[in-house]
Amino acid sequence: MGEIWNFETRPEKPLPYSDEFSSVDEYVEGLLNFAANSDLFRFLCGGVHILDFFTTDPGLFVDAVPKEWQDYLLQTEPMAFLDFLMRDDLDKISQKSGPVSPPESLVQYVKDIRRFSLRRNFRPRQAKLPVLPRHVALGMKTKKIHEVTHFAGYIDRLAEDIARAKGEDFTHFVDFGSGQNYLGRTLASPPYNKHIVAVESKEANMAGAKDLDILSGFAEREKRVRNKKLYHRLLEMVDPSLHKDEEALKRAAKELGMSDEDIATLDLRSRKELQVTYTVEEGKGTIEYVVGHLEHADLAGVLAQLRGQEDGVCQDKLRMMAISIHSCGNLSHYGIRSMIMNPCIKAVAIVGCCYNLLTEKLGPPTYKPPFSRPSLQPINPRVARESERRDPQGFPMSEKVSTYGGDGIRFNITARMMACQAPQNWTDQESDAFFTRHFYRAVLQKIFLDKGVISRVYHGETASAATPFNSSTNPVIIGSLRKQCYTSFNAYVRGAITKLTTHPDFSQYHQVIQEKMGDITDEEIASYEETFRYRKRELSAVWSLMAFSACVVESVIVTDRWLFLREHSDIVCDCWVETVFDYKQSPRNLVVVGIKR
Ligand SMILES: C[S@@+](CC[C@H](N)C(=O)[O-])C[C@H]1O[C@@H](n2cnc3c(N)ncnc32)[C@H](O)[C@@H]1O
Repeated sequence: MGEIWNFETRPEKPLPYSDEFSSVDEYVEGLLNFAANSDLFRFLCGGVHILDFFTTDPGLFVDAVPKEWQDYLLQTEPMAFLDFLMRDDLDKISQKSGPVSPPESLVQYVKDIRRFSLRRNFRPRQAKLPVLPRHVALGMKTKKIHEVTHFAGYIDRLAEDIARAKGEDFTHFVDFGSGQNYLGRTLASPPYNKHIVAVESKEANMAGAKDLDILSGFAEREKRVRNKKLYHRLLEMVDPSLHKDEEALKRAAKELGMSDEDIATLDLRSRKELQVTYTVEEGKGTIEYVVGHLEHADLAGVLAQLRGQEDGVCQDKLRMMAISIHSCGNLSHYGIRSMIMNPCIKAVAIVGCCYNLLTEKLGPPTYKPPFSRPSLQPINPRVARESERRDPQGFPMSEKVSTYGGDGIRFNITARMMACQAPQNWTDQESDAFFTRHFYRAVLQKIFLDKGVISRVYHGETASAATPFNSSTNPVIIGSLRKQCYTSFNAYVRGAITKLTTHPDFSQYHQVIQEKMGDITDEEIASYEETFRYRKRELSAVWSLMAFSACVVESVIVTDRWLFLREHSDIVCDCWVETVFDYKQSPRNLVVVGIKR
């Protein structure tokens, strides 16, 4: 990277990769090679759709999971299997007593996923961080307090370190997707006293954030000046249930024949219309809000809304850091890319989340053996549409990942969604609840197929026998059902039928479900449950393998962001990734840091 800057906050390694690799380049090469070429990984990350688990005979497990793995997977208790994947010492595994021992190829696969997954353990670099005062912690749950405490401390140290090295302080911190502005409010408060620009797309979140600013003494809401006598006269004549509804009071005042001048003296503006004013004091932090849905990394529109920046003349005095806790999907890309696109953004520190919300840049995948179709997913118009968009803002960001092996590395929505699972944190109860839900859903899809609610779709030539590789079924997206629907398979099927025949969002299914499923008996439902009950372990084992393997999906997504910064070495003088939260408290715990030359 040319000139070497000595940042004290820089971790030893630019990515938290396993000690099995001797350099970051060796790790990246190994990771990308595995992600692009391991058929098992490609099958487990994007190739399986739970809906098609039982729609072919003998089924996805028997057809697609390696034969030598099957006995071990079926005979291992779900929690013991999760221990095997994520916690057991694999070199001692053969000494463990169990009904069957894991085959060598499975042990090797688990070792690969473990070594290519970025390390997630967290040791705070600062032993003691300031405790959030009560008025600043308002509204935060334990998880948010953990995140905000650690990330505010992290940003403060990073900013100080960069300022020391560069000889210039940061003027502002731009929070991408500020939500309730917990982070911004903390950074604007003592001891940090930073100037915050909170960018948020949802007006309701921003209104909530401003309410918290008022409660925490950061801001004041404009006081109403009203003709009290007239106002009380109006209240006496209006139903008490309407006393807090300014619009209703305005209407009532008109109906009672009050003149426009009199009504004006009542100041019946809604709460939203009242100005919220922020005190600006020398040495204290400030907060400015910008409402807007960012669609790219160019911040010209945001900057133009800042106090004193309307004409853009002072923008060359801005030295800003782009920050965020859990900017979802592409918003993280905008935050990272903002340093490349805006002269005033001098550094970034972005913790992403919701990889399912990323768009795809490379378009649909090409066919590759051994799969006779690009993915084993059921035909899902949204999945196809999303990849077809070829969104330049989407994944991957870096040239390296975009062109790896000639064709680049892609992750479809199933793979990206699984990358948000955090299986290391699953408890016995939670995982059993997941497995049961997916099992119910997969068996219901089989019923839908048998009853003719959905049909089989062949990919390529229509073969005589349907397999998971040449066919799929069209999905019926049911979404979640009421809690009591998960108490038994019968309750689940009945709940799904009710939703699909009555809910206005599912009108396209009303008739077909009524016709094909309306007369299903309890005995029939029970016989499906009986037929598939003993196969639940097939599903729990594959779901566990999918979530575990997707730790590598997350590692590729984060590595891609780091590679993008490294590829801009003409602009970026240093960049790294490290953990900033305890994984148990907050599993999306990797920050991507970039510093401008
Ligand atoms: C997961 S929340 C995190 C909120 C906050 N950073 C926190 O830690 O509490 C992500 C926030 O980003 C906002 N958001 C998502 N996409 C956005 C976009 N394109 N532009 C602006 N805000 C966005 C959402 O409305 C949401 O409030």
